[in-house]
Amino acid sequence: MRELSGKVAVVTGAASGIGRAMAVRFAGEGMTLMLADVDHGGLAETAALAGDGKVLTQITDVSDAAAVRHLANRCFGEFGAVHVLCNNAGVFQGGHMWTRGEEDFAWLLGVNLWGVLHGIHEFVPRMIEQDTEGHIVNTVSVAGLFASQGTGGYALTKYAALAASQSLAQDLVATGSKLRVTALCPGAVRTRIGDSERVRPPGHADTPTPDELDRRESISRAAQDGMDPSEVAGLVVTAIQEERFLLLTDPGYAARLRLQTETLLTGHLPGHR
Ligand SMILES: NC(=O)c1ccc[n+]([C@@H]2O[C@H](COP(=O)([O-])OP(=O)(O)OC[C@H]3O[C@@H](n4cnc5c(N)ncnc54)[C@H](O)[C@@H]3O)[C@@H](O)[C@H]2O)c1
Repeated sequence: MRELSGKVAVVTGAASGIGRAMAVRFAGEGMTLMLADVDHGGLAETAALAGDGKVLTQITDVSDAAAVRHLANRCFGEFGAVHVLCNNAGVFQGGHMWTRGEEDFAWLLGVNLWGVLHGIHEFVPRMIEQDTEGHIVNTVSVAGLFASQGTGGYALTKYAALAASQSLAQDLVATGSKLRVTALCPGAVRTRIGDSERVRPPGHADTPTPDELDRRESISRAAQDGMDPSEVAGLVVTAIQEERFLLLTDPGYAARLRLQTETLLTGHLPGHR
């Protein structure tokens, strides 16, 4: 989809980080925006940063199907169409696989995987029916390509989000749809992802263990030194315009992916040969 001006974009997780940067960039491209998040104050700040264009906000927990349905109803009701859907909301928690409990996995899966699936289910049929060009951007992560120690709970949601994105893209092509998909796989980006606990719902109590706290700290440090979110937003706009499926924010990941595949094919554990 080359032309973004005058089109409608929905961004989840828009109160902070990459979602906020995409919202601001889309506004700069002349798009109409529907911004969703669980953080009311952050959403209002993003709306202010997005400027004078048409911007609506809605408190939405993406892990809740009814909330995402309500978001879609409001969006199509107010704007009559959606051209870019960014399933971006996400949370991080680290820790060894055996120290994480059901509540941890439920929280991560709820936001990072069900959030994407609810977005697909509630928006894509109506976007197909619209019969216009359109694009779905699912924020995955390099953790969806390279499972590493201490990030298993997060990585498994991102591997699944990548699979969902690839299957969605194949389904759309196979059915002759004009919609396209990008799986955004950023490395470290300067956001609040290392402090995801701030939005953890009370029903999903944390069970902090040294391995978890250690991983949280290292992710926060990596994010601090990471890419500026506005750069990621710029890459997303190009990926939409060039209909690029896999968006890696660092050119070095291609070589790493090749190496990982070669290592796996020898039957060895990547990173431990
Ligand atoms: N920052 C990085 O280094 C990095 C790297 C790879 C992938 N990502 C992914 O980027 C996406 C955006 O994260 P970010 O880095 O901007 O972090 P962030 O914490 O700055 O922003 C995440 C946003 O998601 C919102 N959110 C959390 N739970 C939600 C829910 N249930 N419903 C709706 N909104 C919810 C938060 O309130 C927040 O505004 C996530 O999917 C994350 O996994 C981030």
